[in-house]
Amino acid sequence: TTVDWQPEDAERDGYEHYMLKEINEQPKALDRTIRGRIQDDGSVSLSSFPLGAFADVSDVQFVACGTSHHAALYAREHLVEQGVPAYAFRAGEYATTPAPIGENTLVVAVTQSGETADTLQSVRHAREAGARTLAVTNVVGSTAARECDDALFIRAGPEIGVAATKTFSSQVAALSLLGERIVEDVTGSPSEGHAERAAAFRRLPTDVQRVLEESPVDRLADEYRGCDAYFFIGRGVGHPVALEGALKFKEITYEHAEGFGSAQLKHGPLALVTEDTPVVAVFDGRHQGKALANVEEVRARGAPVIAIGGEGSREVRELADEFLPVPDTHPDATGVLANVQLQLVSYHVADLLGRAIDKPRNLAKSVTVE
Ligand code: G6P
Repeated sequence: TTVDWQPEDAERDGYEHYMLKEINEQPKALDRTIRGRIQDDGSVSLSSFPLGAFADVSDVQFVACGTSHHAALYAREHLVEQGVPAYAFRAGEYATTPAPIGENTLVVAVTQSGETADTLQSVRHAREAGARTLAVTNVVGSTAARECDDALFIRAGPEIGVAATKTFSSQVAALSLLGERIVEDVTGSPSEGHAERAAAFRRLPTDVQRVLEESPVDRLADEYRGCDAYFFIGRGVGHPVALEGALKFKEITYEHAEGFGSAQLKHGPLALVTEDTPVVAVFDGRHQGKALANVEEVRARGAPVIAIGGEGSREVRELADEFLPVPDTHPDATGVLANVQLQLVSYHVADLLGRAIDKPRNLAKSVTVE
């Protein structure tokens, strides 16, 4: 007998795809991202950015592409909620139409590879305009890390699958710590509830592990594949997670998927909602009343609803056709957990459809042309 074995199989650690391997590596990746960076009292300690490092920052501009842009949108939520002006730009558009830069603007390039052309172009513009620049990246020695004034490494470990998974989680975690440091420096005190938030991020590796072990997603994937289109909605950090869920879904299943902020539904997308367009709703635990009302809107049009939220949210569970629970935690951590469920949804649907999961057509891991 012959054994069909490729050296690659060993690198994939027995997983059929790098993507599944990397999804399952998230507890370890998050542990590395966070290790040593949150103290027992919940305070953040980033060796390159001691207390006061961001004291003179007036506003934060994130520039990023794809999944990294979603991580930036996620991080922006905390900053603006705590009163720090912050904006998350798509680097491709920023490079063409940059935002005005003030004397104390901090431009944060979020880029897994550190080599994305649009993001690098945005950084170069920002530097020329006199901004302080900071790269949040996975790759030590990358162009972004070298060209920016400072770098914060997410330490997720190498990611091979074109679809970003563990690096999104690690970016969100690293950006959350960075955000907390910025809030503390700019406002002069830690954010309200910072200790609970920090504790939730420390628990993330364990909570993600539970999601991976208990996810009922493989059954669901079979039931809902082959629909006309798939919509993803959410509020708060649920919004960037919905965008990320839709991006991942279209990238690897080749099915039509779109993500919207829930509030946007009635301004257009509702016209597309039918019995044949499942709606995936992400609940971050805040804004519950409005988020539930948005789900009612799509249910009234007959759409099957797949909801993701904290396991204790009875109302969400009751309203949805399918409920994907995540451990109850701080809303800022809930989004990361919900996203893990969405990664699994995309993966299993793509697998059932026999797609080239690790190398989807027409896409590249790192886009080095503008
Ligand atoms: C490409 C990849 C995405 C990635 C984006 C930004 O589009 O296919 O997965 O999110 O580039 O990459 P970066 O390395 O800058 O995070």
